[in-house]
Amino acid sequence: MRIDIITVAPELLRSPFEHSMMKRAIDKGLAEVHFHNLRDYGIGSYKKLDDMQFGGGAGMVLMIEPIAKCIEKLQAERTYDEIIYMTPDAKTLNQATANSLSLKENIIILTGHYKGVDQRVRDKYITKEISIGDYVLTGGELAAAILCDAVIRLIPGVLGDEQSALTDSFQDNLLSPPVYTRPSEYEGMKVPDILLSGNFPKIEEWRNEKAYERTQLIRPDLLND
Ligand code: ADE
Repeated sequence: MRIDIITVAPELLRSPFEHSMMKRAIDKGLAEVHFHNLRDYGIGSYKKLDDMQFGGGAGMVLMIEPIAKCIEKLQAERTYDEIIYMTPDAKTLNQATANSLSLKENIIILTGHYKGVDQRVRDKYITKEISIGDYVLTGGELAAAILCDAVIRLIPGVLGDEQSALTDSFQDNLLSPPVYTRPSEYEGMKVPDILLSGNFPKIEEWRNEKAYERTQLIRPDLLND
């Protein structure tokens, strides 16, 4: 999978791709991530990227020309399955979206800044808009890193069997059940007997029950979906 990220702050984005599962996916050749500095497509000698919004109001808006130039240059080189815009005014990212994006071959992620991008960028180029939650970040870079992490770990071959994504929270619209490791007793707090029993069908049943209980308590909205 190839991911092209268009950003005004590439340096904000690099580190998450240099560690852990995203690095492993890149090293294994399962994911390729390229950063494109929007400034390189800026207008005039000042490489201008933004301007005041028509109609007045606080906050600068990213102009269409630099973004169009960058997207069209990429599109001339290959076909993209999705051109995603990270923005708080969109549907919230969930596991189903991450699953479906992990099967794509080429995607572009556009990160916004300031007041966002000229609406005509969204109308002309964007095929999917994603928010990572109901709060506003300074820019879309950290949101893009989160999206990439959620997607890249699901690319077939990235996780080993021992870390299978199938038992993650949300994979079946349930939160994960509690997990324990050694010691089996700590300051009087015991690991539930069932987990030490070796009775795997019963353990599975217990885990499902706990996952359901936890979901009902913390995220009942998931059960209604
Ligand atoms: N840019 C700013 N806030 C954001 C959010 N919550 N999700 C995605 N992109 C954003």
